[in-house]
Amino acid sequence: MNSSVKIFRSPYELAEKFAEELVRRITDSAEKNEPFTVALSGGSTPELLFSVLGDHFSKSAPWEYAHFFWGDERCVPVTSQDSNYGTAKRKFLDKIIIPEVNIHRIHGEDDPEKEAYRYAEEIAYFTAGKNGLPLFDMIILGLGEDGHTASVFPDQKELLYSDNVCGVAFHPVTFQKRITLTGRVINNAGSVIFLITGKKKADIIEKIINKRPEAVGFPSYYIVPEHGMLYWYIDEEAAMLL
Ligand code: 6PG
Repeated sequence: MNSSVKIFRSPYELAEKFAEELVRRITDSAEKNEPFTVALSGGSTPELLFSVLGDHFSKSAPWEYAHFFWGDERCVPVTSQDSNYGTAKRKFLDKIIIPEVNIHRIHGEDDPEKEAYRYAEEIAYFTAGKNGLPLFDMIILGLGEDGHTASVFPDQKELLYSDNVCGVAFHPVTFQKRITLTGRVINNAGSVIFLITGKKKADIIEKIINKRPEAVGFPSYYIVPEHGMLYWYIDEEAAMLL
């Protein structure tokens, strides 16, 4: 597995440099007249990235070549503050010119089991395939303090190995239902990028990157792309123990 760790002075510099990389990847695809499929992460970390993209890069890429998906979504209406789609829409997607059909949100308001199946069908239709699984050009991930990523939580690690493209999970503390990409799909991506900031994540990052014994309990430890690249985009606070 090819991986690389990139450390940035601040969350803003990380967001800006990643935005430049995303724009570069979409532009390269456009030059080959190919779509670029990317799954966005949820939670609070990517909010700064979305703001940087929406406020400073809205005219920097041929967005019509991008297809945006989500790595996971909370089972809530789009109007909820918890909606990962709602956050990306407000801060980023509403500020770019992109065909509506290129925005592939998870319907958090619908029955989770049925939506997991429907979303898998949508993914299959709009992405390439490899090894019998959907191939995203890029999957962006966050890292929870318990080592979860997307919505694959430590007590639901079976989602790492599911034959399904999407699964239904629940947050171990709030029991909020989630829909998530499964581990095999994540590991089938062309590139997987963890975006992580803040000193609260420093300990768990150190354990995962240095393969400490306790890391085996963390779902993020098992994100090892089969044939793609793994990048860690982290700020200095999150990297303080490396
Ligand atoms: C979600 C995310 C989840 C998130 C981590 C980190 O829907 O919450 O997909 O995996 O990336 O929990 O969250 P923060 O960025 O808020 O720390």
